[in-house]
Amino acid sequence: MKFSKLSESVFESLTLSISAKAKQLKAEGKSVIAFTAGEPDFDTPDFVKQSAIRAIEAGYTKYTPTVGILELREAICKKLKRDNGLTYGVDEVIVSTGAKTSIYHVLLAILDQGDEVILGAPYWLTYPEQITIARGVPVIVDTTADGYKLTVERLEKALTPKTKAIIINSPSNPTGTMYSVEELAKIADFAVKNDLLVVSDEIYEKLSYGKKHVSIASISEEIKKRTIVINGVSKAYSMTGWRIGYAAADKSIVKKMATMQSHITSNACTISQYAALSAIDGGEQFAKDARAIFAARRLLMLEFFKTLDGVTFPQPDGAFYMFLNVSKYYGATYKGKKIDGSMSFADCLLDHGVAVIPGLPFGDDNSIRLSYAVSERDILEGFIRIKDFLSQLER
Ligand SMILES: Cc1ncc(COP(=O)(O)O)c(C=O)c1O
Repeated sequence: MKFSKLSESVFESLTLSISAKAKQLKAEGKSVIAFTAGEPDFDTPDFVKQSAIRAIEAGYTKYTPTVGILELREAICKKLKRDNGLTYGVDEVIVSTGAKTSIYHVLLAILDQGDEVILGAPYWLTYPEQITIARGVPVIVDTTADGYKLTVERLEKALTPKTKAIIINSPSNPTGTMYSVEELAKIADFAVKNDLLVVSDEIYEKLSYGKKHVSIASISEEIKKRTIVINGVSKAYSMTGWRIGYAAADKSIVKKMATMQSHITSNACTISQYAALSAIDGGEQFAKDARAIFAARRLLMLEFFKTLDGVTFPQPDGAFYMFLNVSKYYGATYKGKKIDGSMSFADCLLDHGVAVIPGLPFGDDNSIRLSYAVSERDILEGFIRIKDFLSQLER
C-alpha cells in the first residue's frame, strides 16, 4: 500500500509506546505510578451529566447549526466577557469537537501552502503536526533560555515574509508557564506591526495558581481583531471525553472556519453541547474546587522535585504539569542500558515503576513531563521511586 506523502510526514504520537508499555506492565500485575495523564482525574460534575441526560430525553439528538447551538454560543460570549473582559457577538464564536479541532480548523482557514507558523519549544505536540496537515510550516523557536516563553527578540529572528501566525499557549502544556500582561503586550505589538495572526490556546485558563490568566486578545482592539481565542470545557470541568471546544475571533475568520468544519465534522456532538452549556453557566464552583486540589498537589510536587540533585524545571504557574530537565543524567546506565535522551530515560524509569512522558515529542529531548492529575499518595510514592532510580544510575 502506498500512503500519502502527507501521512508519511506526520508523526505518530511517540508517547503511545510508553503508555502502552505502562498498561502492559500493570496488566502483568506490576506496580506502576503513572504521571502520564493529560486530563483531570475527577469525574464530570453530576449536574453536567444530568443536563446531557435531559437533552437526550428532550430529543436533542439531531444536527445543530455547524457553529453550535445559539444558547451555547451565548453562554460562551458571556463567559468571555466575565472571565476575560472580551466582547464577542454570537457570530464571532464557533463550537467544535474539542479545542484540538478548533485549532485545526483555524489553521485550515488561515494557511496557504508553505505559510509559516511560529511556536515556542517546548510545545504541545499536536501544533506542529496540525500545521503540517494544513500544508503550513512550523517554525520552532527554542524558549528554554528565555524562561520557556516567546520573546520579541526571538520572534524577530524567526520572522520571514511567509510568517502568517504565532501560537501562544498560556498556561502551557508541557511546562505550566504563563505569560504576564507585559509579555503579551510586547508580542501583541509585534503581531500588529508585522501583520500576523495569533492563535491563543487558553484551554488551561482555569488552572492557574497565583498568577492571573490574561488573554492576549484583551490587550487592545487591534490585537483582538488578529487573535483567535481557543478554549473549551475539557480541562476546566473534567469533560475531556465530551469533546467540546470553541474559538472566538473576527466574524470573517469564524465564517471560514465554519465552512471547513461543515465538511469535516459538521456540528460538535449535540448532547455534549447541552452538557457544555450547563458547565460554562454553572461550573465555576467545580472549577474552583478542582483548582484547589491541583494547587495542593502542585505544592507537593514542587517541594519534592526541587530536592532532586541536578534536576531543574521552569516554574509551573498553571495547568497540571511539571517539565523536569533530567539531561544531567544522560550518559549514565540503568541495569546495563544506556540513557541517551528522554525516550530511554522514560523507558528505564518505567522499568523502575514510574511512567512519565518523554520531552522529545514536545520539542525538548532534555526533559520529561510529569502530570499531577494523580493522587497525593501516588505523588509521594512516585517521587520516592524516581529518587531511588536516580541513585541507581551508574556512570
Ligand atoms: C495545550 C492543549 N491545547 C488543546 C488541547 C485539546 O483539548 P480538547 O480536549 O478540547 O481537544 C490540549 C489537550 O491535551 C492541550 O494540552
